[in-house]
Amino acid sequence: MIEINPNEIVVVKSETSKINTVDFSNLVFGRTFTDHMFVCDFEDGTWQTPKVMPYQAMTIEPSARVFHYGQAVFEGMKAYKDDDGKIFLFRPDQNCDRINKSSARLAMPDFPENYFFKGLETLLKLDSEWIKPGVGNSLYLRPFVIATEPAISASPAATYRFIIICSPAKAYYNEPVRVLFAEKYSRSADGGVGFAKAAGNYAAQFYPTSLAQKRGYQQIIWTDASSHQYLEEAGTMNIFFRINNKLVTAPNNDRILDGVTRKSVIQLAEDMNIECDVKRVSVEEIKTAAKDGSLKEIFGAGTAAVISPVSAFEHSGDVFEIEQIEDSYASLFKEKLLRIQHNLSEDKHGWRYEVK
Ligand SMILES: Cc1ncc(COP(=O)(O)O)c(C=O)c1O
Repeated sequence: MIEINPNEIVVVKSETSKINTVDFSNLVFGRTFTDHMFVCDFEDGTWQTPKVMPYQAMTIEPSARVFHYGQAVFEGMKAYKDDDGKIFLFRPDQNCDRINKSSARLAMPDFPENYFFKGLETLLKLDSEWIKPGVGNSLYLRPFVIATEPAISASPAATYRFIIICSPAKAYYNEPVRVLFAEKYSRSADGGVGFAKAAGNYAAQFYPTSLAQKRGYQQIIWTDASSHQYLEEAGTMNIFFRINNKLVTAPNNDRILDGVTRKSVIQLAEDMNIECDVKRVSVEEIKTAAKDGSLKEIFGAGTAAVISPVSAFEHSGDVFEIEQIEDSYASLFKEKLLRIQHNLSEDKHGWRYEVK
């Protein structure tokens, strides 16, 4: 890795803050942005001096390769504040690793880990007022990289921009979702980019998801592209099934995003002696379990909603309602994760990262 001195970071502070114009009790996810952003350009084969500067529009040439060939990757992570005003990130090393794995798959340069951390820390200290204490409140962080080189020829760019923007998010009390198991469309394929957080993976889901929504299903559970017989993940969440008292979830492969929440749930299940099988999960076994009553829960796991229970699924015209139970695993894992993230419980795996 290139040696870069993170102390070189240039900070240009915003002269005024927008914070007093924001109604923190009525935030719509992803619509409000803090006062500052982090920007670092890749030019002449190396990352240049990074900058924290006022959040603002950018000028990019219309010929920039990102607009034509989709060289764009991103991350999603959150910062939390405890009641003493201390700021924490949750397993940020995982996001740093993952954005670089995503970049590598899209022939984009690795971003130095020390810049990633220094950038986040500088930004979070400047915008710390935007992180509200209280379980569930957080500051959603969106690191991303785009190909900026103005050139419309289908090959990797020579210049890139790495950016972090931040958006305050309120406690997310999500209603259980109804989901459709994919039978026709696919979000990713063997040897493709499904494991990367590539912008195009999300665009590819919008049309089939809009069809599902018209039929009353908020999300699609994607299946393997070749047979559509194995359940893989949801649009922005990995997915768990509880059969009696055992959890099952699909193994990671090149079609599935290696979720931080997923791997944390698997670890917490082990800590609590809840059996969790990481194995291929067939549509048929879930339909059989729904019919014989052994399917107790389905839930999604991801940074935005933490844990999101599923209340019904449809496959091939068969609709199964899932009764919402008290003391669900979904609520147990959500509570455990939120308590660790907000510095309210022991963190025996060292997942909290304090921003000092
Ligand atoms: C496709 C996809 N799967 C799973 C996840 C969950 O990953 P994480 O728990 O790291 O947020 C996300 C969200 O980032 C996602 O976009």
